[in-house]
Amino acid sequence: MQSSITKDIRAAADLLGKGEVVAIPTETVYGLAANALDADAVVKIFEVKNRPHFDPLIVHVASAEKAKALVEYFPEVAKKLAEKCWPGPLTLVLKRRNIIPDLVTSGLDTVGIRVPSHPLTLQLLNLLDFPLAAPSANPFGYISPTSPQHVMSQLGEKIPMILDGGNCDVGVESTIVDCTAKVPVVLRLGGTSIETIEALIGKVEVNIASSSAPHAPGMLVSHYAPRKKMLLGDLDELVAEYSHKKIGILSFSKVFLSSENIVLSASGNTSEAAQKLFAAMRELDESDVEIILAELLPEEGLGRAVNDRLRRAAYKD
Ligand code: TXA
Ligand code: MG
Repeated sequence: MQSSITKDIRAAADLLGKGEVVAIPTETVYGLAANALDADAVVKIFEVKNRPHFDPLIVHVASAEKAKALVEYFPEVAKKLAEKCWPGPLTLVLKRRNIIPDLVTSGLDTVGIRVPSHPLTLQLLNLLDFPLAAPSANPFGYISPTSPQHVMSQLGEKIPMILDGGNCDVGVESTIVDCTAKVPVVLRLGGTSIETIEALIGKVEVNIASSSAPHAPGMLVSHYAPRKKMLLGDLDELVAEYSHKKIGILSFSKVFLSSENIVLSASGNTSEAAQKLFAAMRELDESDVEIILAELLPEEGLGRAVNDRLRRAAYKD
């Protein structure tokens, strides 16, 4: 099989209706989508991605109304967040109804749901009479795709179609908020900043503890990882230490003329850095550098989500 890259949402809707998987654009990263209510379709997502079954999927819907039909109840905090942040890079974890197959939620009694803000995918969702389960469209553990070409290079032979929505605007995955507890808990840092969330609903807990037996995959200690060794730290020191190697440098705003260098945001903007992050990691991973050196961003705005991805991508002994 070889994927076609197309903007034809009707053809995508046809394939999805027949139980096939299709890569879809979202504002965060590309997703690998299938009918969320059809376990036989969803199982293909796990096969294509090589994804372990303990790892639940996010369900994508066209509106908050559609989300309500999939859950037992929609708590007040979820209402506030949905009203202001949907469509957008925010996933809400809510008590699920049983129409969602166990495979989607890995047997949990909750489901992660979001309304993505990409126009093409919103049109597609409006054509369908079912929601779409979609994890990021990358082989499990590797860097998430932010362009149709990223999907093509890794999954092109395994799926029939990639819906072409251009480059992703946000560039890191959605923020996940568990709304089932008394105090909402952020389970994954992502495209909606903690500042934005707390301005709407007050103080939240942040529980993104990494362990090797996670309840969320983005929680694995090693994730979003390039194949090359990537080290995090003070770039001037790292560059001096590894001067005998062919290095690639991933810097926030400072320019390094001596080596291959990708600057994430010349103006020091954390949202711009998030947008460029995964493509930059891929570019260095595919270049002829031997080792990738990177630095953390300020812990504010989307800097927190970028730092989370960098820490998980960095080499561990
Ligand atoms: O931005 C995104 O969220 C992208 C696009 C395609 O929408 N999707 C994405 O999916 O990042 P994925 O599969 O790479 O990550 C889904 C995350 C996982 O960490 C999973 O464990 C968590 O969502 N998740 C899903 N359902 C959950 C639940 N019921 N409770 C806790 N975490 C859940
Ligand atoms: Mg992922």
